[in-house]
Amino acid sequence: YVIGVDLGTSAVKILLVNQNGEVAQEVSKSYPLIQEKTGYSEQDPNVWVDQTAAGLTELLDNISVEPADIEGISFSGQMHGLVLLDENYQVLRNAILWNDTRTTAQCQQIYEAVGEKRLLELTKNPALEGFTLPKLLWVREQEPEIYQKAKKFVLPKDYLRYRLTGKLHMEYSDAAGTLLLNIGKKEWSREICGLLGLDINLCPPLVESHAEVGTLSASFAEATGLSRSTRIFAGGADNACGAIGSGILETGKTLCSIGTSGVVLSYEEGKDKDFAGTVHYFNHGAEDAYYTMGVTLSAGHSLSWFKDVFAENESFEELLAEIGDVPPGANGLLFTPYLAGERTPHADPAIRASFIGMDSSHQRKDFVRAVLEGITYSLNESIDIFRKNGKKIDTIVSIGGGAKNEVWLQMQADIFDARIIKLSSEQGPGMGAAMLAAFGCGWFNSLVDCAGEFLKESVEYLPIKENALRYQELFNIYKAVYSQTADMNQ
Ligand code: XUL
Repeated sequence: YVIGVDLGTSAVKILLVNQNGEVAQEVSKSYPLIQEKTGYSEQDPNVWVDQTAAGLTELLDNISVEPADIEGISFSGQMHGLVLLDENYQVLRNAILWNDTRTTAQCQQIYEAVGEKRLLELTKNPALEGFTLPKLLWVREQEPEIYQKAKKFVLPKDYLRYRLTGKLHMEYSDAAGTLLLNIGKKEWSREICGLLGLDINLCPPLVESHAEVGTLSASFAEATGLSRSTRIFAGGADNACGAIGSGILETGKTLCSIGTSGVVLSYEEGKDKDFAGTVHYFNHGAEDAYYTMGVTLSAGHSLSWFKDVFAENESFEELLAEIGDVPPGANGLLFTPYLAGERTPHADPAIRASFIGMDSSHQRKDFVRAVLEGITYSLNESIDIFRKNGKKIDTIVSIGGGAKNEVWLQMQADIFDARIIKLSSEQGPGMGAAMLAAFGCGWFNSLVDCAGEFLKESVEYLPIKENALRYQELFNIYKAVYSQTADMNQ
């Protein structure tokens, strides 16, 4: 067996996977977001560790597998979050997360110091509020007494892994989202650190995603019931792991993953394509490969917001039960999912969401359908960018919340105008983490071989022409809403 731990934004999900790639057991433990001010989003790293330990203990309590038969553990994690550590590797403050948008001024400072063109050359990405470097600059400016004590920074799942092993590392797929990595050379950028006056020693040592970084510490093994002999592998960014766990391991493969955020992600063989920063360009968890990606900040988050406000006591299944009765276009109701600003294509932390076209005949189910359509339109804007840059996108693997509902899957086929594939497991990131452990343990010669064994296609959804045409018209209206509402929050 191997274990994949996916340290998400709303919960840590733990999968026990056997040698056939079947999920033998699954545990999820949630934790809250701390949002003290508009635009702020934080979590306590110690809570991640406690909830992971509780989840692993529960998993072991519920199975008849011997701990020594669990050969390896690896990780997938929410990207970009800043975890600052002092000289004893104690956490100095709450982690500032990927969906925290307080750092617009710091993004400007990065452009002034490094230059927009040079930043793109080195990191392949623009300065966006969600990335790690602006968060580091924010702490330096706003909390100098904390910054003075900082000896290293890491990303969320790297901190968790450190607490399991006592060894501190970062791996390339997550380091790519810091804005401090030269993603082509796969090394920390001395130039960027120099221009911003940052000590490069704040950056931890880098390893590959499938690299073995140690074994479990005695205390963690004792606390959870795991065996000390379990081998620990570095893991990857949740989007890189989502791609691995969905077989996005060769050119032409595309993923749509809907969690708290939503992404459309496409495999890239090399570092040399030029999207001029319109989509993110990161190192993959597969050695020396890359991927490009557009991000909708509030995808699943838009739906959970709607549920929390209007249907607190219902499950997502209940909330979505009637959306199939509502025709494409939600009877004229249209939603833009900018509840916490947007990344792709607008890179605008200030934009806010809207419902337009409300009619007194509308019922709750129209609103729910409109929310799903708005999330999907937003992801389609990323697909548009890929297509305009010459990528052929005719088949997309769908995972996460968006793959749990048949009506939503058909909606993706119709709005993306592409064939949508659902795999027999839509676990994505957790499965990708388990695959990194399986590959690291030597079960397979490559991740591609592992995907061939572990991943099975289960259902496909083809676009329905009439719906695709209708959605094309509505998508044009959707796109126009952004500029009409952009001034509201300035
Ligand atoms: C990607 C991003 C999000 C997080 C979610 O750039 O910010 O998709 O990785 O965990």
